[in-house]
Amino acid sequence: MKFDAPAKANLFDQAKIVGKSTPRIDGPLKTTGQAPYAAERHDVIANQAYGFVVGSAIAKGRIAAMDTSLARAAPGVIAIVTAPDTKPVGKGMMNYAPLFGGSDIHHYHQAIACVVAESFEQARAAAALIRTDYVRDKGVFDFPAVAPAAPLAKGQGGKPDTSSQGDFAAAFAAAPVKLDARYSTANESHSMMEPFATIAAWEGDRLTLWTSNQMIAWAKQSMSKILGIDPANVRVDSPYIGGGFGGKLFVRADAVLAALGAKAAGRPVKIAVQRPLMANNATHRQATIQRIRIGAEHDGRITAIGHENWSSNINGTDGEDGTAQTPKVYAGANRMTANHVAMLDLPEGNAMRAPGEAPGHLALEVAIDELAEKLGMDPIELRIRNEPEGTVPANANQRISDRNLVRCLREGAERFGWTQRSAKPGQRREGAWLIGMGVAAGYRGGPTATSGARARLGTDGRITIETDMTDIGTGSYTIIAQTAAETMGVPLDRVQVVLGDSDFPASSGSGGQWGAASSTAGVYAACVALRRAIGQKLGFDADSATFADGRIDAGGRRMALTDAGALTAEDEISFGDFKKGYDVGTYAGHFAEVAVNAYTGETRIRRMLAVCDAGRILNPLSARSQVIGAMVMSAGSALMEELAVDTRFGFFVNHDLAGYEVPVHADIPHQECIFLDTLDPVVSPLKAKGVGELGICGPGSAIANAIYNATGIRVRDYPLTLDKYL
Ligand code: MOS
Repeated sequence: MKFDAPAKANLFDQAKIVGKSTPRIDGPLKTTGQAPYAAERHDVIANQAYGFVVGSAIAKGRIAAMDTSLARAAPGVIAIVTAPDTKPVGKGMMNYAPLFGGSDIHHYHQAIACVVAESFEQARAAAALIRTDYVRDKGVFDFPAVAPAAPLAKGQGGKPDTSSQGDFAAAFAAAPVKLDARYSTANESHSMMEPFATIAAWEGDRLTLWTSNQMIAWAKQSMSKILGIDPANVRVDSPYIGGGFGGKLFVRADAVLAALGAKAAGRPVKIAVQRPLMANNATHRQATIQRIRIGAEHDGRITAIGHENWSSNINGTDGEDGTAQTPKVYAGANRMTANHVAMLDLPEGNAMRAPGEAPGHLALEVAIDELAEKLGMDPIELRIRNEPEGTVPANANQRISDRNLVRCLREGAERFGWTQRSAKPGQRREGAWLIGMGVAAGYRGGPTATSGARARLGTDGRITIETDMTDIGTGSYTIIAQTAAETMGVPLDRVQVVLGDSDFPASSGSGGQWGAASSTAGVYAACVALRRAIGQKLGFDADSATFADGRIDAGGRRMALTDAGALTAEDEISFGDFKKGYDVGTYAGHFAEVAVNAYTGETRIRRMLAVCDAGRILNPLSARSQVIGAMVMSAGSALMEELAVDTRFGFFVNHDLAGYEVPVHADIPHQECIFLDTLDPVVSPLKAKGVGELGICGPGSAIANAIYNATGIRVRDYPLTLDKYL
């Protein structure tokens, strides 16, 4: 089914199941420990051996010699795969550093060997007996030192990643009110609860990977490319995932080493990457430095806005682009963005929840707060004054599909009690605690991607949906079941959803907050195909018939779906070119209230609120979980999270959950999330957009602005730890 024009009124507008708060259908399995995660697939394959990953002890250079003789003689050892004895395997899709093979070392804790043994403990003990001699090269590890000389990144079509409209320099110079400020954000770790994990098994030339991955079709293609085998001989299965946040968009060393280890051992091999390797063997969100210049009239209208960003990556090409949202959020005729990337020898930087926008908001939304103060304006009114109309501020050829940011801000202000905020900072005090309130706007795109599914009608009238879509803790099982139940006219408990298997039709996968909108549209397409198959079998025109209560009904004739017997249909949703004329975005008003200790500088978050505008909300319960989880993650970016770099030896020092601090829900006593009741007909037949990344775009800036409101001290270097306020 091709979606090639804005959606008209359809069955979802009278939905009884879609749009209703629905507990996760996979919840009981997860809370009772029965949902099998990748490392727990004892159910699918017998005779598993254990693989232990050895990481490089240097960041840059090469392996001069590796002696595995003691390790090979150790108890329980079955096989050892070493990098110098393996030709460098391909990079897969969108990996910026090779995952395994060869003697060259590109980053610290790059996988250099995998020991396979009868038990995990034996594999670990043997790994400690491997002796590796290195030749160390001088690497480049100090981002602030090299950032100023970093070249422009390559944007679309290999062109330098800059944009400009009007004459920024002249307009900024002429503006009566100016802001020019620099911000920095930290290197961050996904720190998902479940580390990378894979069980690999070969049957002849056919490889099966039970793994933890967000994008099954990509993983299948990547593994085929990396191992040089036919994609038809690769099966990937990932039904339950303990968090990904972008770190599992691509295959990693666990999948490659489990496959190579299983080949060498002649047995299935399981690898769960040990937590201390997760900081440096995994990907991370790169630190940024951002300079924002805004010129405005005295009435608050922005006349010039410039946003420059510096970040880094291991191959110097793809950085963390903090300017991503700036062309979209505020009006203003004269504009520029520029995105620079430095080459560093730190581990690979790659996508982490709302790549670009998450750190971009940490700078932009504080800059707007600073401008509001210079203007003597309320920061909400300043944002509303610069609301674009009709088209994207930086692209007059792109219409905005549906945008209700002003409502988000106004309704949020009302709900949060914004009038209690003192415009002047440092005015509210309760004992030792200074109290402040802050606001930020949020923008994140609402993209979609082709997504397929198979729908089966059983002889018992049950509907089964099969797609390689993943549920990374987001609620995919539930929204897909809701979509199928609604479309087929059966109760929710008559639908079974099976996900994450590459033998099923390829879906959009989970990433870029496109999963919810795309995968449900694909399931809708498959269900429409099944309705037509049923209609054909029973002599109905399915498109004009009503499907309800397990029956098909048209022209006074009514039959049970079970009368059709067993049927299977398959289809995918694809999205037409009409979308290129639109910017489909999601929007939020974020609010925070903090207390800052006047003596210690400690910040405590008292309340947070997000008012979100993301089209139809498919399941308010799981969408709320997405948003409040993202708000916690954004609070982490603002206050706590930072991978500390050892600039002498080139690695992230705090490589575990004791050293890398993340906030938890209990750190924030009151979190609320409100969804505006909107529809976006441009996005998909369901008129629904994702929210999983919207929630991390803005809350951290609202916290930063609240701290300023409490203390009168503006710190522009994240995380905003207490030492910076003393
Ligand atoms: Mo998201 S960073 O595209 O999983």
